[in-house]
Amino acid sequence: MLTLALSKGRIYEEALGLLARIGIAPTVDPDQSRKLALPTNREDLQLLVIRASDVPTYVEYGAADLGIAGKDVLVEYEAEGLYEPLDLGIARCRLMTAGKPGLAPRRGRLRVATKYVKTAHRFFAARGVQADIIKLYGSMELAPLVGLADCIVDLVDTGGTLRANGLEPKELIMEVSSRLIVNKAAMKMKHGAITAFIEEIKRALAKTAG
Ligand code: ATP
Ligand code: PRP
Repeated sequence: MLTLALSKGRIYEEALGLLARIGIAPTVDPDQSRKLALPTNREDLQLLVIRASDVPTYVEYGAADLGIAGKDVLVEYEAEGLYEPLDLGIARCRLMTAGKPGLAPRRGRLRVATKYVKTAHRFFAARGVQADIIKLYGSMELAPLVGLADCIVDLVDTGGTLRANGLEPKELIMEVSSRLIVNKAAMKMKHGAITAFIEEIKRALAKTAG
């Protein structure tokens, strides 16, 4: 049995689309059910539907053999027990700093609101900027508006959320897309099944590219 962890929300539709192209579909509709472990039309594959930021944890501890997670989450999580064999090219966006338009004069330390605490620390430290990172769990775009922070570190796709809140993107931290991740021990124990799965996905991706 193989277990694949993925999140509802942004990644879900595109991930299911990719699985559909290799003939895999859940046999329970997660919108109609409260089930979090979904059987599929392949007897040897089940899906775990969990929070996006929990995917590396499930895979690192071997509770899931495989997972689909954004590069943003993987970099922030600093996972050790994982392989990352494939860029799936889905849920593309950018991790950026953003703030109010214009050059805000900075007095003293910069206050940065984000849920990407470690990534933000590394980014500002590498530039020699002294930053106090304020951990938030969502709606980061609000923080500069209400004086909680000077700027934010968050994901940007269309830029619509920033614009709607009177902010603009500033510096690119990294390009983001979702990756297939694999538990290192599972890769040894279930080598045949996992490499076959990876090859199928690779072929489906190559077809789209070509
Ligand atoms: P959690 O539930 O763990 O707090 P979340 O609410 O950030 O996570 P989603 O918004 O579904 O979960 O995002 C999951 C992943 O999808 C992100 O880690 C990122 O890789 C990608 N993503 C997020 N927002 C966008 C976007 N606007 N456009 C494209 N991809 C995105
Ligand atoms: C993500 C991200 C931004 C927004 C960016 O949030 O955190 O807020 O998308 O996309 P845009 O540039 O196209 O506006 P999401 O909508 O996934 O909601 P969340 O805050 O619940 O994760």
